[in-house]
Amino acid sequence: MKIDLTLAEGLKTPLYYYDRSLLESTLQEVNRCINGTPIKVHYAVKANCNPKILKVIADAGLGADCVSGREVTTAIKAGFPAQSICYAGVGKTDRELIGGMKAGIAYFNVESQEELEIISQLAEEYGYKPNVCLRVNPDIDAHTHHYITTGLEENKFGIHQSMLQKAVEFAQNSHYLNLVGLHFHIGSQITNTEPFKLLCEKINNLQDEYSAKGIEFKIINVGGGLGIDYDDPDKNPIPDFKGYFDTLLQNLKLKPGQELHCELGRSIVAQCGSLISKVTYVKKGLNRKFIILDAGMNDLIRPALYGAHHKIENLTAPKDVKVDIYDVVGPICESSDIFGKEERLPVTKRGDLIALRSAGAYGESMASTYNIRTLPESVLV
Ligand code: LLP
Repeated sequence: MKIDLTLAEGLKTPLYYYDRSLLESTLQEVNRCINGTPIKVHYAVKANCNPKILKVIADAGLGADCVSGREVTTAIKAGFPAQSICYAGVGKTDRELIGGMKAGIAYFNVESQEELEIISQLAEEYGYKPNVCLRVNPDIDAHTHHYITTGLEENKFGIHQSMLQKAVEFAQNSHYLNLVGLHFHIGSQITNTEPFKLLCEKINNLQDEYSAKGIEFKIINVGGGLGIDYDDPDKNPIPDFKGYFDTLLQNLKLKPGQELHCELGRSIVAQCGSLISKVTYVKKGLNRKFIILDAGMNDLIRPALYGAHHKIENLTAPKDVKVDIYDVVGPICESSDIFGKEERLPVTKRGDLIALRSAGAYGESMASTYNIRTLPESVLV
């Protein structure tokens, strides 16, 4: 990703800076890999719901994976056809469910028997027959941060395998539901293939079990989770989509005519975005120096929330300047408002511009106004 600040001139920091050409190359690579396969990719809107980003992704022909009523309406507004949208989430309200049916989305990923029964009731009442996939909790450890592991039995997501049969029967017997598939999602920022292989094995066993009962599913949705390289975004600007899709295709026993759906978020948008921030002060402590940025944890919460690290770069210091050691922090009144400890950076001064890299996913979409700060601006160049 090349950060050309002349293109962002006149804009205020903190600023989410998105590189359109990297986003487009990433999408081209996704499309190249799935061309001629039964795979359909639904972009996970939660990763970045900036309308400018959504439009580029919709134009590339991907579907959308949504988790709230407003994500559904935002995706449609950005150009995703309603028939390309799937909708997951453990707590869809009646209003959100009716909205999804009315919009004509592709299918709901249903997370419980309770939700399934409500969808059937509402569909009967309002005269719809929505498609549903049942989200199965596969009880697989994705070996990622425990806040972003979703496929364990202890997590709130999906239907426990022991309760799946009942849900399948209910959906099949309801006149108001059309059971189209099974949905899974094991977690996020997964950087080795092992958890995905385990998931495939789980899915194969489930499919065998249901085939023996004469039940086939049109869609297998494996969710998202493909990780990215936060340490060296310039070495790996585009994740290994080929390796990921090949793992799925080689390990899943898909039935003839069956569609394989993926819900990728981070891997599509993370590397094309940086949070650009200006240095407000370089403060001398007793034993350390602090770079105090005008961006804080309200603008990018991943370091404070997950202990995540985004590569930090000084964009304006001259190349030949000496290096020093700094803690890079934000202005928020919380000790967790830290982007990096003991970072080796060029000697930095007030007014320098700093980039927090790989911030295109779960950056702007998780920003808040904590401390009554304004939301960061954004630019797509
Ligand atoms: N599908 C479902 C059902 C999901 O829950 C998620 C993410 C995705 C797809 C997309 O996963 P991805 O491909 O982006 O890994 N805020 C956290 C990540 C939370 C992920 C939540 N679910 C972070 O900043 O790391």
